[in-house]
Formats: sequence, structure tokens, C-alpha cells
Amino acid sequence: MKQQLEQIRATAQLAIENAKSVQEIEELRVKYLGKKGELTAILKQMGGLSAEERPVIGQLANEVRGSIEAAIAEQGEKMKKAALNEKLQKETLDITMPSKTTKQGGLHPINIVLNDLIDIFQSMGFDVVDGPEVETDYYNFEALNVPADHPARDMQDTFFLNENTILRSQTSAAQIRTMEQRKPPIKMVCPGRVFRADEVDATHSPVFHQMEGLVVDKGITMCDLKGVLEQFAKEIYGEDTKVKFRPSFFPFTEPSVEVDVSCSECGGKGCRVCKGSGWIEILGAGMVHPNVLRRCGIDPEVYSGFAFGIGIDRLAITRYKISDIRLLFENDVRFLEQF
Ligand code: PHE
Repeated sequence: MKQQLEQIRATAQLAIENAKSVQEIEELRVKYLGKKGELTAILKQMGGLSAEERPVIGQLANEVRGSIEAAIAEQGEKMKKAALNEKLQKETLDITMPSKTTKQGGLHPINIVLNDLIDIFQSMGFDVVDGPEVETDYYNFEALNVPADHPARDMQDTFFLNENTILRSQTSAAQIRTMEQRKPPIKMVCPGRVFRADEVDATHSPVFHQMEGLVVDKGITMCDLKGVLEQFAKEIYGEDTKVKFRPSFFPFTEPSVEVDVSCSECGGKGCRVCKGSGWIEILGAGMVHPNVLRRCGIDPEVYSGFAFGIGIDRLAITRYKISDIRLLFENDVRFLEQF
């Protein structure tokens, strides 16, 4: 029996040392120490021993049990360490590795120009207001002195949603909304998208951007209009820029003008950008028509004002020498990355 116990101790020791997994160790524990294990089986035979032998064998059996338990604990500990080491190995952090770069987006050229415009006009004391892109016929035309069936409607090929609702064809609608809501003095700009049923080509898009401006107060004259617009043109195109006011027609301004700036590309000699004329048309403007003021409850005998509408896309195209307006709307990152 003594021999048997020594035998168990030796084989168990070896088996435990060679165990390769936690599960294997657990199996060995059951095999040797479990209720139906080898050691237990031997202890069951102790009844047949003599009174002298029994304590000796009993002590040995306890020792064997103790050493097997110790071996299991030791091997378990080793395995835990090995597993930890392996994990640490796998998760090594290489701090010399280049980090992942995050790509930062940029502003669309339209927004760059728009932000500049807002800066310029805010510095001259203008508020920035917003207006809806889906407008009523009333705000877009009627209140701007363009009654139904008036031939001036042909100037702007309009998208109708129904008889009274349209996609605004001009930010001028915001003039009316502002004058309805506020009393003079008024000094506002309203940037936004406008829509016209145009065929798409290199210079036309059915969606484009305008910035409306409106000033209403006592004693506002054409001189104020010229001063503000000249200042704006010089800030956008440079100090040397010349500004030309040509007589024009808009139903909601009287007199009306179109404003050209000397071509920043050729300095006025004539080139591809200005189509040889030396000038680039950038906006329409004029003195607010008395009918428009009156309709908004402002007495034209007391107050006067001027308004202008700047083509933002045109500004972006000439500033950045963009050859095709479609590039502004295609949103190809290879194009957008250049700004
Ligand atoms: N709304 C006009 C257009 O789109 C421009 C304009 C605005 C003209 C304000 C005069 C005054 O053509």
C-alpha cells in the first residue's frame, strides 16, 4: 500500500507538470483526489490494515494528497502567468508607430465667399436675416411690385409647387418679410439659395446663391447705395477695383442699376474671364420702389431705401477662377480640397 501511494504521488506529479490547460489540470484533480479518485480508493482499503500500520499509511496518504494539491496549485499558477505573458505579448503597444491621421474637411468655396460677405456687411452695421426657400407667390413677386401676368415675371423662370407656392427665384422676398416685421431703420442682408428653371451648362444652374441687402431709413439716397457697394467691391476684389453702375430695370426698385466691377483677372484689359469686356457683372440694385414700401406699411414720403442682390456663385467663380459652375454642385472632393 505504501508503494501504491508512492506510485500515485510520482505519476500524479508528472502528469500535472505536463498538463497543458486548466481543463487538463481539473481532470487530473478529479482523477487523483476526487470521490472516485485513485487516492480515495486506496484510503477505502485502510480498514484492512493493522493498528500499527494504519497511522503510518494514513500520514503518508495525507502527505501524498498534500503534495498533489500543491502540485496542482503550482501548475495552475504557472499557467495563469503564461497566459498573462502571452496576452501582454499580443497587446504590445508600439509607441513609435505613426498614428492614424484624421482627415479634416474644409469649407465649400460658396461658404468661404459667403462668410467673407457677411463679415464685410456686418462690419458696416448690417444684420443677417434668414428667409424660407419655399415661398409664396406673394412674397416672391406680388409684394415686390410684380403682379400676376406682368411681363417682368419672364425674367425669372420659376419652379411652381402649386399656384401660390414656389421655390423662391430671388432672395428679394426677404425684403418684404423684413419690412413687415420691423420698423425702419432697417439694415439687413439675407443670404440663401434661389431656384430658377434654367438649363444646366457651364454658366447656368437651376440652383444658385444670392445675398439680398436692404437699407430703409430717413434720407437714404443713391449715394448711400453707391458708397456701400463700392466699399464692398473693394473689400472683395481689392482696393484698385473700379465699379460701374449701369441703368437697368427691376420692378421693385426705381431707379435700378446693374453693377459691374473691373475684371480682377486682367485689370480691365479684357480676357476670358470677363469675356473680353474688362467688366464682370456682380449684382443688381436700386432704390426701393415706393409701391413696395407702401405695401409694407412704410410711408415713402418719410422713408426711402435701397436694395441689392449679389450673385454669390458668380463671386466665387471669378475669385477662384472656376471654369464651370457645375463644379460647385458636384461636390467632388478633388475639387473641394483645393480651397
Ligand atoms: N432680385 C434681383 C435678381 O435676382 C436682384 C435685385 C435685388 C435687384 C435687389 C434690385 C434690388 O435679379
